[in-house]
Amino acid sequence: MTTKKELVQFLLAKKIIVTGKLMAMIKEQNDQETEKLYTDIQNKDDDSIRKIIFSYLQTEKQKEQQNKDVEKENTLATNSAQEQNKEATNDASDIEEVKEGTVSIISSFTTKEVNKEIQDFVSYFNERYKTLERLLRGRQELDNVTAIKRALQKEEREHVAIIGIVKEINETKNKNIIITLEDSTGEMKALVSKNKREIYEAGKSLVRDEVVGIVGVAGKGIIFVEKIVWPEVPVYNELKKSPIEEYAIFLSDIHVGSKQFLAAAFEKFLKWINGEAGDEKQRALVKKIKYVFIVGDVVDGVGIYPGQEHDLEMTDIYDQYAACGALLAQIPKHMKIIICPGNHDAMRLAEPQLPLYEDMAKPLYDLPNAVMVSNPAMVNVGRTEGFPGISVLMYHGYSFDYYIANVDEIRNNGGYDRADLVMKYLLQRRHLAPTHASCVYIPFRDYDPMVISKIPDIFATGHLHKTSVSSYRNITLICGSCWQGKTAFQEKMGHNPEPARVPLVNLQTREVKILKFME
Ligand SMILES: [Fe+2]
Repeated sequence: MTTKKELVQFLLAKKIIVTGKLMAMIKEQNDQETEKLYTDIQNKDDDSIRKIIFSYLQTEKQKEQQNKDVEKENTLATNSAQEQNKEATNDASDIEEVKEGTVSIISSFTTKEVNKEIQDFVSYFNERYKTLERLLRGRQELDNVTAIKRALQKEEREHVAIIGIVKEINETKNKNIIITLEDSTGEMKALVSKNKREIYEAGKSLVRDEVVGIVGVAGKGIIFVEKIVWPEVPVYNELKKSPIEEYAIFLSDIHVGSKQFLAAAFEKFLKWINGEAGDEKQRALVKKIKYVFIVGDVVDGVGIYPGQEHDLEMTDIYDQYAACGALLAQIPKHMKIIICPGNHDAMRLAEPQLPLYEDMAKPLYDLPNAVMVSNPAMVNVGRTEGFPGISVLMYHGYSFDYYIANVDEIRNNGGYDRADLVMKYLLQRRHLAPTHASCVYIPFRDYDPMVISKIPDIFATGHLHKTSVSSYRNITLICGSCWQGKTAFQEKMGHNPEPARVPLVNLQTREVKILKFME
């Protein structure tokens, strides 16, 4: 007689995710039921086991808790073997006709962490200043820019323009904003009057350590600010469109290994992407999906926060990646899966995070269609002769928490529900984490990898567990959803995740749709 423990071990060995629901059902069943389930799945291939387990989960008890769409999936999953074989045969022949997508990595960081000294931070900020200063010098408003040392010598009421790193931001007794700016020649104060509404609002959005241009009138050792200039994205940024109809989808925050992982919804997504769900039009469309972006937090990780072990279905990181690999292996092989790490993954937290550790995430490296990149990374897809391709900036979004908490224009306009506002904010600053305190980072001596030096066509993020789709100066802004139910931490913080949504981008028209796999 098979014990329940043996059954669970068998499932894990087959890389089947033993979710909380499944575990509870196994615990509740009697010995005969355990034996029957074990007999049913023994000597079956992985795909058949998955289907049997999926059907098993759809018992009367579970049906009460499942939404109508998932019940529909149950019907699909229990189709006759003959029908399934027919579908499989059709799919195989159709997939052969589909051309693979083209992916080239523009930037993915591979430099290993080494011991850092104070001087590294100095060099790092100097490099950031130099790169962003070059961008700002191209701006018409800063034609007459001078070094701070010279600006300090200007006569009162003279026009003055400087470029500096924001060292401090304070408020005067009269509620004006006083900024201290710094360049390699010195530092200088600039005053933003509360009576100049538009400039005051702009001034309130400043954060420490960002690089800006300040235009104004000289006072005694101070500038009275008339305009704040950010590095920005050019107004006339080209909207690139692929000459062929092909699609990219964006996933993030799958969190495999969490008790809250939404296995049924992910199964539903996998069926859809395999052309086993939806109408004829949908089935035809999925064959044209060439790129699957996964923007971090592919697993829930281990030891990410105190007490996480109570929230984990799988407490071994190797098991988590094995289960994740088994899921992603079901994505059709003609689709390229581009994966970067997030703060829950097996990688140092300091950014840029390198591609996932190869030993721990081996099941993902073993996927023939996976492309592993760092966080952040820039990837080009769909390049053909005569078309330069679509550039996608991937950044998980760990720094977003800081800007949501500290920038009024983001916090007061939707905060965690508005990833698009954070993305726009960072694009204007051409930096993914301008403030020192907004993320843990590696201070490289010779460049700042968090500077957005090249303008992407698509800026893809995650981390907030809520989809957001928008556009800023022809850059498509996408925040992925999640595949994890609401955690106790999110409940406490008042976050409102929207799981199981998938933004789909038509690279030919650049239109974006959001598909829902759970109501
Ligand atoms: Fe996440």
